[in-house]
Amino acid sequence: MKKKILTAACAFFALTALSTQAQTPIYLDKNQPIELRVQDALSRMTLEEKVAMTHAQSKFSSPGVPRLGIPELWWSDGPHGVRAEIEWNSWGYANWTNDSITAFPALTCLAATWNPELSYAYGNAIGAEARYRKKDVLLGPGVNMYRHPLNGRNFEYMGEDPYLASIMVVPYIKGVQENGVATSTKHYVLNDQELWRGHINVELSDRALHEIYLPPFKAAVVDGGCWTIMGAYNKVRGQHACHNEFLLNKILKDDWAFDGVVVTDWGGAHDTKEAALYGLDVEMGSFTNGLTSESEFGYNNYYLGDGYLEMLRSGEVPMSTVDDKASRILRLIFRTSMNIDRPWGSQATAEHAAVARTVGEEGIVLLKNSPVTKKGTPLLPIDGSKYNKILVVGENATRSLTQGGGSSELKPKEEVSPLAALKAVYGNKISYAPGYKAGRSMYGNVEPISPAVEDALRAEAVAMAQDVDLIIYVGGLNKNHEQDCEAGDRITYGLPFSQNQLIEELLAVNPNMVMSLLSGNAVEMPWVDRVPAIVQTWYLGSQAGNALANVLTGEVNPSGKLPFSFPKRLEDNGAIHYGQMSYPGDSINQTYLEDILVGYRWHDTKKIPALYPFGYGLSYTTFEYGKPQISSKKLLEGETATVQVKVKNTGKVAGKEVVQLYISDKKSSLPRPTKELKGFQKVDLQPGEEKEVTFTITPAELCYYNDALSQWVAEPGEFEAMIGASSADIKGKTQFELVF
Ligand code: BGC
Repeated sequence: MKKKILTAACAFFALTALSTQAQTPIYLDKNQPIELRVQDALSRMTLEEKVAMTHAQSKFSSPGVPRLGIPELWWSDGPHGVRAEIEWNSWGYANWTNDSITAFPALTCLAATWNPELSYAYGNAIGAEARYRKKDVLLGPGVNMYRHPLNGRNFEYMGEDPYLASIMVVPYIKGVQENGVATSTKHYVLNDQELWRGHINVELSDRALHEIYLPPFKAAVVDGGCWTIMGAYNKVRGQHACHNEFLLNKILKDDWAFDGVVVTDWGGAHDTKEAALYGLDVEMGSFTNGLTSESEFGYNNYYLGDGYLEMLRSGEVPMSTVDDKASRILRLIFRTSMNIDRPWGSQATAEHAAVARTVGEEGIVLLKNSPVTKKGTPLLPIDGSKYNKILVVGENATRSLTQGGGSSELKPKEEVSPLAALKAVYGNKISYAPGYKAGRSMYGNVEPISPAVEDALRAEAVAMAQDVDLIIYVGGLNKNHEQDCEAGDRITYGLPFSQNQLIEELLAVNPNMVMSLLSGNAVEMPWVDRVPAIVQTWYLGSQAGNALANVLTGEVNPSGKLPFSFPKRLEDNGAIHYGQMSYPGDSINQTYLEDILVGYRWHDTKKIPALYPFGYGLSYTTFEYGKPQISSKKLLEGETATVQVKVKNTGKVAGKEVVQLYISDKKSSLPRPTKELKGFQKVDLQPGEEKEVTFTITPAELCYYNDALSQWVAEPGEFEAMIGASSADIKGKTQFELVF
């Protein structure tokens, strides 16, 4: 009897399951192929519903299709942590109490690790936080190329080299998207200055576009599989980048077969017909500057709102445009907000803090480490037993640098300052003097600090410096307007807030100075010969102080390498060298006159040495490089060759070295840079240990972009493979020939 009842119950459940299955529309069935689901959902939607999806419904969300149970999308900055909750219809913070997150180091620091595994860990952790915060799209990473040191947003990007940025961006994207959260690689493309960012028109050669500015975006799309791309504010060749036929329809969607969503930068759309026709899918933040300004227009008044609906109804633009946009948005929704298999995520965990700290530790770059006197030993790592009194000087030792900077501003659950971390190590040996004061202002002029206050702060620090054994200077730039901050460029290359005077006066009374520069940009260093130890410390987020202290104490051996060149003088930079039309333009147009010679390509080719070159960074140990060996001196078309080199840790402590491969084309029909980065590997070596590093060279690494042919070409002839510890420190070379 019992058995019979059970069987009947089973049959009932089976029937119910069957009948539910039969009724489940394809678009709701996660087991159906995504393209079928997209087609099914699209076929059920009205024109009005399709148009509604293509523009915002609040500052950071866009609609789904409520009638069909298709959820909306939530977008959030990005790229160094998940931004605090913003109000529905104003730029103000919503003041929630559950949105404090992990602030990860700025992307310049991530690039400086030259460690793709850390990029994956970073992406995965920030993606988990975005997921926990119920965000569907993270507005990052940023991969605009570092063209010159004045760009206020360089700190959010991955340096000056397209190869380095391409390798580093891919694992970040994969790490984030494994959480069912989309990335939005930004700002596509040529948003390389903040001044006049909303309208400046960029002109450049096809060659510079393809060789320098596009590759990281291409890697993000083709290798990273990113689900959204954010258009840039500026114009490119006369058309706004957010609805640009050439950039979006031709390159992104045709050539790279991008199947995701193009979103405007907030306020980046300017015309309904262009937005309809030229590749834009979702319009956000219109009629505002994306940061502070409000508008009286409603969301229906967006370019892709009622005006677009009318154009579709009248036939002025084809229905296929909205079908394409809606299909892409549906695909994004199925990948994210409607993906019921995605993990739940987590926020501000100990694991995420460890990722943030490790990225900081591996990204800090040791620029200089000399003895103060000829017979002395280098100041770093700091031997605490040698010093009774240590003076920390500089506002950045205590200032929160997750605040400011623009849309990347964060509300971290924890932020360990350099001063707090150094006190935790050295206790009451530490005293502190700010030395200077910057005030605070993100989008306007900073309230000036009076000379009397400045003088008093400097005098206090100098007086205290006379009486200590060691100075740890923690200064640099900050996230104020016209520093490392969105919506404005830097005004000067030198350090602000009279820091140069402060540094000189400190050195005059006490030369034992370790300098930690916090910035996302190169700065002028007139005192460089007199400061014995310098570390480039970037912006490190929640774990800033701990990461810095671990490097200064020697707990961690520094292994970061510069992702961009530090020119001696501003005019030594290629973009700046060509004057106003090159940077910043005449307020309407600008031309990239340095062409492909960006960063070290310029310094090398024009023989203008950088103060600290691309790829440079010291360690507390020393490395010895063997002679590079190539597998074949002749490379036939379609073949690959390997270059092998031995690297040995010849010092007393374990350390990591970034071994770099540069390729030089000895003779070509178009001018080429002296050399270009085409490979790198970070190797971990115990004292005395030796490892062999192998690079593979394929013809792709030998190509340049030929404007006349509109394609990448490799020309037969002599090439040189160079192994370096930086772009300016080549340890060995080997020649080979490309033969067709
Ligand atoms: C910035 C973007 C950001 C967006 C949303 C704009 O001001 O340029 O990078 O993602 O605002 O906050």
